[in-house]
Amino acid sequence: MLSGIVVTAVLSATAASALTYQNVSEGYSPADKTCDYLHRTFPDITSFSNQSSYIVDNTNFWSAASVLNPACVFAPSGAEDLAIAVKALKYYGSPFAIRGGGHMPIGDSNNINSTGVLLSSSGFKRLALSPDSSTLHVGPGNHWGDVYNFLNNTGKSIVGGRLGVVGIPGFITGGGISFFSWKYGWSSANIASVTGVIASGEVVTATPDNDFSDLFWALRGGGNSFALITEFEMITIPAPVVTVGTTSYGTTNLTKERWLDAIYNFALYGGEDCHECTVTPSASTGTQYPNGTTYTAMKFFDGNDTAPPALSNWTSPYLNATSDTFAATTMTEWSQSGLAQFDSIHGLRNRFHVLSTYADRRALQIIHDTFFAFVPIHLSSLQTYIATLTPMPISKQYFRASKVRGGDPMDLDPEDGPHIWYEMSVLYTVERDEEYVSAFLRAVDEEVKKMLAAEGIKQPKYLYLNDADKGQPVFEGYPAENVRKLKQIRHKYDPEMVFTNQMPGGWKVAHA
Ligand SMILES: Cc1cc2nc3c(=O)[nH]c(=O)nc-3n(C[C@H](O)[C@H](O)[C@H](O)COP(=O)(O)OP(=O)(O)OC[C@H]3O[C@@H](n4cnc5c(N)ncnc54)[C@H](O)[C@@H]3O)c2cc1C
Ligand SMILES: *[C@@H]1O[C@H](CO)[C@@H](O)[C@H](O)[C@H]1NC(C)=O
Ligand SMILES: *[C@@H]1O[C@H](CO)[C@@H](O)[C@H](O)[C@H]1NC(C)=O
Ligand SMILES: *[C@@H]1O[C@H](CO)[C@@H](O)[C@H](O)[C@H]1NC(C)=O
Ligand SMILES: *[C@@H]1O[C@H](CO)[C@@H](O)[C@H](O)[C@H]1NC(C)=O
Ligand SMILES: *[C@@H]1O[C@H](CO)[C@@H](O)[C@H](O)[C@H]1NC(C)=O
Ligand SMILES: *[C@@H]1O[C@H](CO)[C@@H](O)[C@H](O)[C@H]1NC(C)=O
Ligand SMILES: *[C@@H]1O[C@H](CO)[C@@H](O)[C@H](O)[C@H]1NC(C)=O
Ligand SMILES: *[C@@H]1O[C@H](CO)[C@@H](O)[C@H](O)[C@H]1NC(C)=O
Ligand SMILES: *[C@@H]1O[C@H](CO)[C@@H](O)[C@H](O)[C@H]1NC(C)=O
Repeated sequence: MLSGIVVTAVLSATAASALTYQNVSEGYSPADKTCDYLHRTFPDITSFSNQSSYIVDNTNFWSAASVLNPACVFAPSGAEDLAIAVKALKYYGSPFAIRGGGHMPIGDSNNINSTGVLLSSSGFKRLALSPDSSTLHVGPGNHWGDVYNFLNNTGKSIVGGRLGVVGIPGFITGGGISFFSWKYGWSSANIASVTGVIASGEVVTATPDNDFSDLFWALRGGGNSFALITEFEMITIPAPVVTVGTTSYGTTNLTKERWLDAIYNFALYGGEDCHECTVTPSASTGTQYPNGTTYTAMKFFDGNDTAPPALSNWTSPYLNATSDTFAATTMTEWSQSGLAQFDSIHGLRNRFHVLSTYADRRALQIIHDTFFAFVPIHLSSLQTYIATLTPMPISKQYFRASKVRGGDPMDLDPEDGPHIWYEMSVLYTVERDEEYVSAFLRAVDEEVKKMLAAEGIKQPKYLYLNDADKGQPVFEGYPAENVRKLKQIRHKYDPEMVFTNQMPGGWKVAHA
């Protein structure tokens, strides 16, 4: 009854743009005051630590380092309700965080401790094709697997995550590398509109050519400083059948050399000529790898060809498979099939760290050898761990395809390509081992830079946001002119820096 009255009062006050808040006792923190207000106004979607919806949003993260126990969780399903929460957070001056799928493996990027409120995207579950099926409305509470599932049997797909488990809003606002990106560019290049709440508490829809086109551009890779997103409208693509799977090549020295050669050649040739082909190579070692460093590749072809010539270096006799699941299927089936495998990893702790080089064979060797030489030095005392190096060959074609629909803040120049982007990942279990993981990642980064410099090998400045570790200079690798533009756009839409100072998690363009 009381909450009903408060909601009515708030909604009519919103219209008059003069909110009235009931103050709770002095001595409560800004977060507690906001939680109390949200609980009175929206009892069904505001939860505390003794409730199951709180527990899900506070614990269902890719890395257990994100379980931070916020004062409360607010999980709206309507943009107007999220707008009211933004106004309340501002009024009480409460710190907050927002989460999507929760896959960014940086503790405070997607959650906050008891000094703040966690806003969850989990209620934004909409999935709906436009009448002509040219676009798909996607709520940021979905995972990519939900999206591919929804598109089952439509013949359509979208330029989304390679794996079904991964979340959506962080993925797109950081760029987003899809299997389809060599043909269509970044995931963020395949968006028709974005709806979200800006810091004033207004709900706006940004498109490439409406009054919010500057905001639209900023959201294509500028991170979370601009708006809290409540819906993406994604451009659909035809992809009734895809060929995809993971091939393991074993552990020998010859395999290693061939695997490195194949990455180098794919960056220059395979991934340049074949816009339907991608390869995501990984090498892993650790307590789960008794036979030593194991070389693999996730291969993809947009169509039903199981032997595209551009992927020939990834097959026998050049590289012999010890196991192989590369086969014709659909994005729906593929995105579901990986879920069980990833469920077993879920809940461990994970750190990412990214490096970039041009496609240079010596650089590949230096990074590979340094990474795997430093593993035993820094990680051998860990009870359980997996250390993985994923050198992604990014051809010029990737950059070219990304420019077609109006561009993005990264603005990667095809003439500067091809690149190789190396995601270093360490999965581990014990919280206090984080210091060893940090020391390992720092040591590899420093040694690699020293060795590349000594060899006279230049590196591109660009570092992919979604693979970066906290503190890596992500925006410093964007063109300086675009960083200036991003800062201006941030200032225009959030002059009080609500999404920068009150929402400290994630990469902030204001700090670049
Ligand atoms: C197993 C795994 C596989 C991956 N595969 C790929 C891949 O194939 N390609 C690729 O490019 N990347 C991949 N990534 C990286 C992935 O893109 C990032 O982790 C990304 O941030 C995940 O998005 P999310 O919604 O789950 O993010 P979250 O961790 O929930 O959030 C990340 C950031 O986005 C912000 N955010 C969340 N929701 C909103 C919202 N509604 N509005 C505004 N900002 C918001 C948060 O504040 C946070 O700073 C992978 C990661 C993992 C762990
Ligand atoms: C409520 O608290 C805020 C900040 O703590 C204060 O500015 C405001 O005057 C208070 N309002 C009432 C009605 O007491
Ligand atoms: C849960 O916690 C809230 C806030 O601390 C409290 O008001 C509520 O009574 C608790 N509910 C249950 C079922 O324990
Ligand atoms: C919460 O996090 C902030 C920022 O990291 C930190 O300064 C503060 O000490 C933390 N407080 C608690 C209660 O954990
Ligand atoms: C997709 O549709 C096919 C029928 O064409 C069905 O066999 C399959 O189970 C569906 N997949 C999912 C995940 O629903
Ligand atoms: C691989 O090469 C290293 C050094 O180059 C050598 O020590 C090792 O024995 C080789 N392993 C195999 C299986 O040939
Ligand atoms: C390790 O190698 C042995 C012998 O080749 C093989 O039987 C086993 O499956 C391998 N183990 C793993 C985890 O790959
Ligand atoms: C492969 O695709 C082509 C064209 O889309 C189609 O004609 C053919 O039947 C498909 N083959 C298989 C084995 O699915
Ligand atoms: C395969 O590798 C060879 C070098 O071993 C290279 O010349 C060729 O271009 C590569 N093919 C593709 C499609 O990348
Ligand atoms: C793959 O197998 C063929 C035939 O057995 C062999 O000639 C070739 O050297 C093997 N390649 C690698 C990388 O081991």
